[in-house]
Amino acid sequence: MIRRLPRSLSRPLVAPARIPPLAATAPPAANHGTTHPRRWIAGSIAVGTSALLVAYYYDSRSVVHEHVVMPLIRRLVPDAEDGHKIAVKVLSLPSWARPHDTGVDGPELETELFGLPLSNPVGVAAGFDKDAQAIDGLFDLGFGYVEVGSVTPVPQAGNPKPRFFRLEEDEAAINRYGFNSLGHGHALAQLRSRLVRFAQEHPTLFPDASGNPLPPDGLPRSLRPGHILGVNLGKNKTSPADSNDDYVKGVRLLGPYADVIVINVSSPNTPGLRALQGAEELERLLSDVKAEREKIVQNGLPKIAVKVTCDLSEEGLADVAAAVRKTGIDGVIISNTTLRREGLQSENKDQVGGLSGRPLFPYALAALKTLRPLLPPSVPIIGAGGIWTGEDALAMARAGASTVQVYTSFGYRGVGTPALIKDEVSRILVPANSTWREQIGADFKGTNLGWDETRVAAESERLRAEAASLAEVLRQAAEKSSLANLVAETEAALARYNAPAAPAVPEPAPVSRAALVTAAMIARGPQPAPGPGPKAPLPIAAPAPAPEPTRQDAWADEVRSGPRRLV
Ligand code: FNR
Repeated sequence: MIRRLPRSLSRPLVAPARIPPLAATAPPAANHGTTHPRRWIAGSIAVGTSALLVAYYYDSRSVVHEHVVMPLIRRLVPDAEDGHKIAVKVLSLPSWARPHDTGVDGPELETELFGLPLSNPVGVAAGFDKDAQAIDGLFDLGFGYVEVGSVTPVPQAGNPKPRFFRLEEDEAAINRYGFNSLGHGHALAQLRSRLVRFAQEHPTLFPDASGNPLPPDGLPRSLRPGHILGVNLGKNKTSPADSNDDYVKGVRLLGPYADVIVINVSSPNTPGLRALQGAEELERLLSDVKAEREKIVQNGLPKIAVKVTCDLSEEGLADVAAAVRKTGIDGVIISNTTLRREGLQSENKDQVGGLSGRPLFPYALAALKTLRPLLPPSVPIIGAGGIWTGEDALAMARAGASTVQVYTSFGYRGVGTPALIKDEVSRILVPANSTWREQIGADFKGTNLGWDETRVAAESERLRAEAASLAEVLRQAAEKSSLANLVAETEAALARYNAPAAPAVPEPAPVSRAALVTAAMIARGPQPAPGPGPKAPLPIAAPAPAPEPTRQDAWADEVRSGPRRLV
């Protein structure tokens, strides 16, 4: 259905011109008997269709998107990935061919993120526009913040298809895309060509432009005042697990075109990626990334945020908070998709991958509430995960989210999602005479977003002491165990030493040397004559003077001369 859109683009534009002739031709048709009802029906359909198309094109809030277009797409395009591709295509059409948010953001929605002004707090999460193809299409739908990516340095195909599944009964989705990406080079080309177009349209802003402009100072890199552009960085599947290079390269190459660079360490679909959320790994990664940012920073941009998952334990979230505090990066996004699967109904519920949408909301909210007091208020948190309505967005704000991001609800509710969520937020805030900013952290009842430096410092001290005492216990245990080993070894040696002597073997009767020599010679048989040829065996020592014959001599004689009874 959406594929036909480009062809029908001219309809709403020409429709007003066509409608009057239809109406004008209607009365004469009455003279042609049966053609009248047909013309009337055809005219009504044309008018209705044109009206629908006008609504479609010029107002993303139109109910047709949520209640007609989206259910139809779900029926006609069974593979969620195909639906996703169509949506990105539509939003990358020229501006006149795309749906727009025709409303104006109210003052109650105004806020800021990383010190940058935002006309509204609703953003689109990473993963929708993976290759930075639909940035303006997304801004035109009314998103205040657009995050493209995740982008990997080298293009990669991602996991085999199918890899994106709708869970309609649960208003959710599971994906295992595995960072399909056209790579840094493609993303750079997209960002640069957007900037070049902008420079051509606004030459006065680029007095020194020499064909390769950089975003001008004083303008956000979204190129739209009150809007923020984020670039989310991922890691190639083939890159070494312990290397931070992919992220560092992304900062260097794409950082100059982004207001925010997001370090994604929380996708469940790239083996080993989530391990980067560990305390030491994350601290190392964020400080590497920050060091690279310092080399390219201009007017404080880009900011650096890290995106984590709500699947982390409380200790895991505390580790993230500690790494953010220590490295001084600018913000956190929580949450990516979850590996949890509780309470799902849909037949796709057991697909492998990350779960997003409604069922994620309580987990993401809980993780946000845990994380918020562990970070100073100067570090904003962006809330994501199952946000469907204005009420959901406000719940995230009250739990301390400075702004929110949506993805799965956008896939279900359609192009009007940001506008609808904003309307729903405004409908709650305006009668209460409140604003989004006032709602941020309201659950913490005015206690500085729950941040209490002394408490966090005391808590960190307690954790450090606990860790130190644990280390001591381990050391002692290790010591003890090596001592114990030593003691055990000594005891074993002593036991061997003190072991009772082996049972006494009767003393062999003294054997005369002559007898031994004789026996050996008999056993060896006749010897070759010495001379050339094989090496002669070592000569046996010359026999000593013959002693008194003994019992053994007798035995030797017997061997030599055949059986003979000994007496
Ligand atoms: C995602 N998400 C995601 N996140 C990210 O940082 N990089 C990515 O490439 C992707 N890719 C991606 C693909 C698909 C199909 C989905 C559904 C999600 C996660 C996304 O940005 C968001 O954090 C979660 O989906 C939670 O929000 P929603 O979808 O519940 O609103």
